[in-house]
Parts: sequence; structure tokens; C-alpha cells
Amino acid sequence: MGRIHARNLAQGVAGARLVKVADALASAAKRAGQDFGVAAETSLDAVLEDPEVDAIIIATPPRTHPQAIVRAAASRKPMLCEKPLAYDLEEAERAVAAARSAGVQLQMGFHRRFDPSYVAAKARVAAGALGSLQLFFTSMRDKHAPPDDVLRRERLLFDATSHDFDAARWLVGEVAEVHSFGTRASVRALRPGDEDPPEPGNVVTVLRFADGPIGVIDNSRAVRYGFDCRTEIVGSEGTLRIDAPRVAHVETLDARGSTRDYTSDFHQRFSGAYVAELQAFARTILADEEPSVMGEDGLAAIRLSLAAERSLRGGGGVAVSVA
Ligand SMILES: NC(=O)c1ccc[n+]([C@@H]2O[C@H](COP(=O)([O-])OP(=O)(O)OC[C@H]3O[C@@H](n4cnc5c(N)ncnc54)[C@H](O)[C@@H]3O)[C@@H](O)[C@H]2O)c1
Repeated sequence: MGRIHARNLAQGVAGARLVKVADALASAAKRAGQDFGVAAETSLDAVLEDPEVDAIIIATPPRTHPQAIVRAAASRKPMLCEKPLAYDLEEAERAVAAARSAGVQLQMGFHRRFDPSYVAAKARVAAGALGSLQLFFTSMRDKHAPPDDVLRRERLLFDATSHDFDAARWLVGEVAEVHSFGTRASVRALRPGDEDPPEPGNVVTVLRFADGPIGVIDNSRAVRYGFDCRTEIVGSEGTLRIDAPRVAHVETLDARGSTRDYTSDFHQRFSGAYVAELQAFARTILADEEPSVMGEDGLAAIRLSLAAERSLRGGGGVAVSVA
């Protein structure tokens, strides 16, 4: 993800310039530095100490985010942090508090908030075009599962579902209860009370929103046909669908029938959103404004992810208070 952000910055984001990249792995740092034509470092300190650096993007593994935020806050550098904010709620709360008390912006990497289709949908919902909101459905499914070593350290309900929790909160409102059900990548259902359930391959999370609507999120690690991210909101006066899976609007018709392309990964689907979120980040810093999606939104997503994991392990719905 760091390379995606670095490439976007190197290719031009209004108001921003890529100064340097850093990766604890020297070979990765060197390769990125060469690819994007900037200096490469192997420590965050070397970045924070550079007076040319006005702001940073944190795209390291989630466990390292809180410490990086605290250090950037101490150096008074605004930051964009990738989701999830952390896996540990207390560490995340301390990090958000550190940014707040230092008075530096902390933007969360919930890029759907900058995707043109999601932005248009939000504007219609906010204008009341759907009437009172009733139902929310969203899917995010990956084409292929990551390698086993990555799977072992990932947490689906944080790494993937946090995007959906944020979309739910942003588009519909606060979530009061979650109930998650999971299966492995094969279809064996995880049983409530499983001592140590393996990381699920598929999860369905049922939501009850504080103001009444209900919703469903489905996440899958390996559906094979493509990267599939869709959302539907049903209201008393209308229904809205966000569904943009095509790369090109070309349909091939032949002896096998009809074939249309499908986005194959998150970068292809959300390439414009990643640029737009960086543009918003640069604008926010230059105007010294509050980011539209901030550390507190990252905390809310963590509370929902933790509750969903608790539900998956123990069975039953789990009440959540995001405040
Ligand atoms: N917004 C999105 O769509 C999206 C997509 C993918 C990943 N992400 C997020 O981006 C982050 C990174 O994910 P990834 O898939 O690129 O991970 P990755 O493991 O591919 O890359 C992480 C890099 O960070 C380096 N690193 C690890 N610890 C470090 C430290 N303390 N200091 C400096 N460098 C360190 C590693 O050497 C590695 O090169 C995660 O939080 C992930 O959830 C977001």
C-alpha cells in the first residue's frame, strides 16, 4: 500500500511532493527510492527529523501504527494512517489522543470516502433522497487469498471489514450491535464457542444501527472472479446501489456466450479514490483544517471490529458503543 501512495505522490498530487520513502526492510526501501526517484530511509526517525518533510503517510503493518502516530505527533507532523488504526484499542486511543494534544491532523485511510461513486451516494443520502433509511448491504470480496504467512498475521474483521464498518457509519449512522458468522475458506462453519477459531475465509456481519436501520456486510477472501465491492442502501422513498466493477465497458459475445471484465483488485477498483484521498490530505494540511475522516473514525471501526470478533468467537450479538 505504501508503494501505491508513493507512486500517486510521485505522479502528482496538487499541493504535495514526495520527499522520501522509508521501510524497515532496506531492500524494500531502496527499491521504492529508486522506483520513485527519491531518497530512501530505513527508519521513521530519519523521516521525522528531515525538515523538508511536512507530513507523513503510515502504511506499515497495523501493529506498528500506534507507535508511528505517537512519534509523528511528537514531531508535529500531520499524518495519514492506513486502516486499521491498530489491533489494540488502548494503544489506538493513546495514539489518537497524542495527535489531538499535539494539534496535528490524523487522517484515516478509509478511501471509499473519496471514491466518486461513494461520494455521490453520500450526497444523495444526506439530501434525503432515499427518505428514511431502512436497510444497508455491502460486500467486499477479494479475488485471491494472500499467502499463508500473511493470512496468519491478518485479522479479516479489522483488515477488511473496517472499511465496511466505516462505510456503514458514514452512509447510514452509528452502529449499536453486530453479530458475525464465519466459515473457513472451505465451508466448515465456525461454531460459537470454538476455543481458537482459525482466521475465517468468509464472514457475514449483521448490523443493527442505533437509529433503527439494519444491515449486512459480507467479506470473502477468495471468490476467484474478481475484486467485488458493492453497496446498497434501501430507504422508504428509494434505493441506491453503488456497483462499479467494470474496468472497461466492453462486452465480448462469442460461442461461450457473453464475457465482461471485472475489477481484479482493490487498486484497480479504487485507483481514483487513492489519489483523491491524498489530494484531500494535502488540502487539509495546507488549509490547517480537520480531516473529513479522522483518528476517531479509526477508533470507532476498531470498536466494531473487536465486537465482531467477540461475536464470531462467542456467538450471539454484541452491543457496541462507539463513543
Ligand atoms: N486502504 C486500502 O485499500 C489498503 C489496501 C492494502 C493494505 N492497506 C493497509 O496498508 C498497511 C500496509 O499493508 P501492506 O499490505 O502494504 O503490508 P506489507 O506487509 O505488504 O508492507 C508493509 C511494509 O512495511 C514495512 N515495515 C514493517 N514494519 C515497519 C516499521 N516499523 N517501520 C518501517 N517499515 C516497516 C515492511 O518491511 C513492508 O515493506 C496495512 O495497514 C494495511 O491494512 C490498506
